[in-house]
Amino acid sequence: MSQPETTVYVCTVCRAKDDPEVRPGHALLEALGARLTAEDRAIVAAEPVECLGVCSRPCTVAMAARGKWTYVLGDFDNVADVDDLIEAARRYTASETGLVPKKDRPDAMRKGIISRTPPAPKG
Ligand code: FES
Repeated sequence: MSQPETTVYVCTVCRAKDDPEVRPGHALLEALGARLTAEDRAIVAAEPVECLGVCSRPCTVAMAARGKWTYVLGDFDNVADVDDLIEAARRYTASETGLVPKKDRPDAMRKGIISRTPPAPKG
């Protein structure tokens, strides 16, 4: 079986803004695990990661695929924004370059973009 094309990396180390004892990325990762459909899982994998360098904007995620632009996104609510994140991953996967036009971005993606990075050069 081949690897899904897109990986959504979820930081599980960020601390919640209102409670430093809580690390909300764990719940986001769990919610993705529960809500990605079998069809989604064929194209999208969700993986934990320790720090994406934007620690003040939990939940933080990165969306990456070979040969595509990589997005770093923040401010995802681990309950309210799960469906937006899944839809963002679907649209990202459907895009040839990984770039998702602003009008096609789910709300949480539109508000949460921190950076986008071009694909590594081939070679
Ligand atoms: S600890 Fe989550 S981005 Fe740094």
